[in-house]
Amino acid sequence: MWQFRLWDVQDVAVFLSITLYICDLAGAISIHSSQRSLTRSVQEDVFFSVDVSCSGIPTIQWNFMSAVVSRTIGTWQPGVYSNITVDYSSRVQAYINGSMGLSDLRLQDAGFYVVTVTEAGGSSKDVGFVLKVNEVLYEDLQYLSVSALALACVAALLMLVMWLLNKVYKRIVAWRRKTQMPENNETELQPL
Ligand SMILES: *[C@@H]1O[C@H](CO)[C@@H](O)[C@H](O)[C@H]1NC(C)=O
Ligand SMILES: *[C@@H]1O[C@H](CO)[C@@H](O)[C@H](O)[C@H]1NC(C)=O
Repeated sequence: MWQFRLWDVQDVAVFLSITLYICDLAGAISIHSSQRSLTRSVQEDVFFSVDVSCSGIPTIQWNFMSAVVSRTIGTWQPGVYSNITVDYSSRVQAYINGSMGLSDLRLQDAGFYVVTVTEAGGSSKDVGFVLKVNEVLYEDLQYLSVSALALACVAALLMLVMWLLNKVYKRIVAWRRKTQMPENNETELQPL
């Protein structure tokens, strides 16, 4: 609960910065994106979808910012080169239209992602994305505990059934002995 409230404050700050970025837009570069606020769970993948267009070949750079760090994820020019930082090389996928895919999310990936598009003339434009990364959902844990409880019930039921069967078997054995006894006595008594 406390974590959520903390996030809300951060969200406000982040959206304010996005607004600032949007106001900063200039030039002939256009960056289309539909969803700028994304929420994923740990180990899931995220796709920051943009469609960049400008005169000439754009240079696309993705940066990551959080409360603790600020670093470059990668820089590429579609069809020319792609330079992804070593830390991200196994998890990041660069796309021609400027989009970026990030897989196997960790809690530390939560933060602010900015794509900067620079055209040959030198002018540039940025767009920011907010990524929230959730831990395994509470509902999942609840589901697990419910399943464990159900399994425990089934196990208890099986044990009860086995105990009952064992009892019934013992009774049958005892009953058989009882019904066989008189016969034996009779056969023994006959010669007399
Ligand atoms: C960018 O390209 C990817 C892969 O080709 C595609 O899935 C995505 O929808 C594109 N993004 C936009 C905003 O067009
Ligand atoms: C790739 O990027 C890193 C950091 O952004 C930089 O230090 C390095 O020189 C770049 N390499 C190439 C081949 O552009």
